Amino acid sequence: MRECFRLAKKGFGKVLPNPMVGCVVLDRNGKVVSKGYHKKYGENHAERDALLKLKNNEAEGGTLYVNLEPCSHYGKTPPCVDLILERKLKRVVIGMKDVNPKVDGISKLLEAGIEVCTVLEDEARFLNRVFIKNMTRQTPYVVLKTASTMDGKIAANTGSSKWITSEEARAEVYRMRREFDCILTSSNTVLADNPRMEHQFKCILDKDLRVQRDAEIFKQGKIYVASRENTPLKSGHLDVEYVLRELYKQGIYTVFVECGGTLAGAMLREGLIDEVYQFIAPKILNDNSGLSCFNGSNVSEISEAQRLKFYDIKKIGSDLLIKCILTT
Ligand SMILES: NC(=O)c1ccc[n+]([C@@H]2O[C@H](COP(=O)([O-])OP(=O)(O)OC[C@H]3O[C@@H](n4cnc5c(N)ncnc54)[C@H](OP(=O)(O)O)[C@@H]3O)[C@@H](O)[C@H]2O)c1
Repeated sequence: MRECFRLAKKGFGKVLPNPMVGCVVLDRNGKVVSKGYHKKYGENHAERDALLKLKNNEAEGGTLYVNLEPCSHYGKTPPCVDLILERKLKRVVIGMKDVNPKVDGISKLLEAGIEVCTVLEDEARFLNRVFIKNMTRQTPYVVLKTASTMDGKIAANTGSSKWITSEEARAEVYRMRREFDCILTSSNTVLADNPRMEHQFKCILDKDLRVQRDAEIFKQGKIYVASRENTPLKSGHLDVEYVLRELYKQGIYTVFVECGGTLAGAMLREGLIDEVYQFIAPKILNDNSGLSCFNGSNVSEISEAQRLKFYDIKKIGSDLLIKCILTT
């Protein structure tokens, strides 16, 4: 199954809104006879990719590993279950059930007398967390990036913020932006920093259209400006959940948020963030009046703190990058 995960990841950035899927086929003696993966949206699914490589039917009586339940419906390609039945496999091991309600591959396999079991489900769900959110909630997967001192400050009380992190960390931000369909930012951040935020698609939350069209951010890429003219208000602010759904309708499956503590705090409070990428510089501001990464709630009990799970930590230049996923 871990080999399926490895193969699946080769489709990263090319398969959305489909999931990343890898497949390994074993013959009746347990020898690996074929491997495949879903390479690009609209192209063969992993099972089809692997099974069609077999010239003689070495898979007969064998086992097929795949990290997602095989499909049972006609989409851009025919059902993988049909091919599995045709190739007479004995056992199918999956990582997770498909969250697409159209898919009912497990029942079809069981009805045909094929053994089905699930392994490493948590890892399989983690791998396809973007697909799961997109499919079940019809809204983009949201990652918020922030860069702070060790005491969680993103700017001094004057707004001075250039630069907290190293050149290497900033280069990493340029690189990671490319992994997302859209960058989302706020009018305050654009007015404070006048960033260029190079990207093919950018969204600015600008309720009162305060950002001038000659700002750097407008010089490149497609821009979606959410303002009170096209977005409903919620408690006096733009309804960010509505904006995210609008972006999804425009084919935006992943959003990278770059903003200050006010919007970050509000989005965190409203449950709109899935992950945080936090750069931490080896610096201490030592001033409580500096701006915090998250400033959206009035919390009296430490037990009320939002919980996260660190899943990746690395050193970039002189800074740390911590990637974490929100938990309940
Ligand atoms: N270190 C970093 O990673 C990083 C990244 C970006 C920015 N920054 C720094 O952050 C500072 C700006 O921070 P900030 O806190 O002033 O601004 P911010 O968090 O970027 O944005 C605040 C704006 O978001 C909108 N907003 C606020 N609450 C909202 C809610 N509940 N729902 C929807 N929209 C809401 C409002 O805009 P409208 O009035 O238009 O509705 C508000 O003016 C700058 O100094 C910048 O340098 C640091």
